[in-house]
Amino acid sequence: MKIFARITGTGSYLPEKVLTNKDLESMVDTSDQWIRERTGILKRHIAETYQTTCDLAEQAARRAIDAAGKRPQDIDLIVLATTTPDKIFPSTACLVQQRLDIHGCAAFDVQAVCTGFIYALSVAEKFVSTGAARCALVIGAETFSRIIDWTDRDTCVLFGDGAGAVVIEASEVPGILSSHLHADGAYETLLHVPGGVSRGYNMPDAEGDPHYTRMRGNEVFRMAVNTLGRIVDETLHANDMKKSDVDWLVPHQANIRIINATARKLNMSMDKVVVTVDQHGNTSAASVPLALDTAVRDGRIRPGEVLLLEGFGGGFTWGSVLLKF
Ligand code: UT7
Repeated sequence: MKIFARITGTGSYLPEKVLTNKDLESMVDTSDQWIRERTGILKRHIAETYQTTCDLAEQAARRAIDAAGKRPQDIDLIVLATTTPDKIFPSTACLVQQRLDIHGCAAFDVQAVCTGFIYALSVAEKFVSTGAARCALVIGAETFSRIIDWTDRDTCVLFGDGAGAVVIEASEVPGILSSHLHADGAYETLLHVPGGVSRGYNMPDAEGDPHYTRMRGNEVFRMAVNTLGRIVDETLHANDMKKSDVDWLVPHQANIRIINATARKLNMSMDKVVVTVDQHGNTSAASVPLALDTAVRDGRIRPGEVLLLEGFGGGFTWGSVLLKF
């Protein structure tokens, strides 16, 4: 009999500190009106200096495990998506494992920037559906504020910190129906942090400080809209489904205009799209599980409904997961 991986619990966490559009007006040459109109973002949450990605991930993970009615000791796989790990090593997944007092199960990070959670969920699903794991914890967590130049208005108004998590368990009933992962490294420099461990940070030719995120926003925007439109078709075709079969779109939360465009592609009214970008901006790998948890906890998403999760980010990377909740 086929084994499916089914989401049995969701959780999320946003740090308490809030940075509003008004706050940003006193930091860079921007306005609340510009940010609202161009991005849909009203505020973002920022980790305190003592809070790390692992701290955020732990909170989201505990909430997801509780919601699934499990104990940390039931978890037999941890896959964590982040672009902003606490340390070069061990992986943040291992740090979360330590916090949860779990010992022995596989734990590793995946790096696909804003598509990270989609990648992590797809990888964990493979473990569960092949019988290699029975109860996996999948986390997307970021302290993206640490790789933002807070004097660069092109990027600093867009991003925030947060974490989201799900527990997926082996099940005879669906479950994750399919996942679709893609990347094209040819677009490296449209969205990147130029410096790094191996390359170092000493590159006088880099535009701006090589520690921080550089983005050619307009080009990324156009690619994101086109690519996400294509992945909607690919996902529905693979499952022999119609647009009207999808109950909820749970998109990466980068910009309300990108989300609107994907919803239009699905002929979906915006009340069937989970939008949280207004509340926390672009939290990279955390954004899809944050949105998912919000709509599960407020009762919008009901058991048995069909969800389309999708993401697009640096790399470029992009992907989708279609599932029955
Ligand atoms: O998660 C990974 C994927 N990332 C994304 O999906 C982000 C994709 N990109 C975007 O969301 C949008 O491109 C932005 C929100 C970054 C920018 O919106 P846009 O409509 O593409 O604006 P633009 O870059 O074409 O800039 C329009 C104007 C420019 O001024 P001029 O040249 O027309 O005089 C910018 O200098 O807006 C100016 N501008 C700003 N003004 C006020 C750029 N940033 C700001 C700002 N405040 N923060």
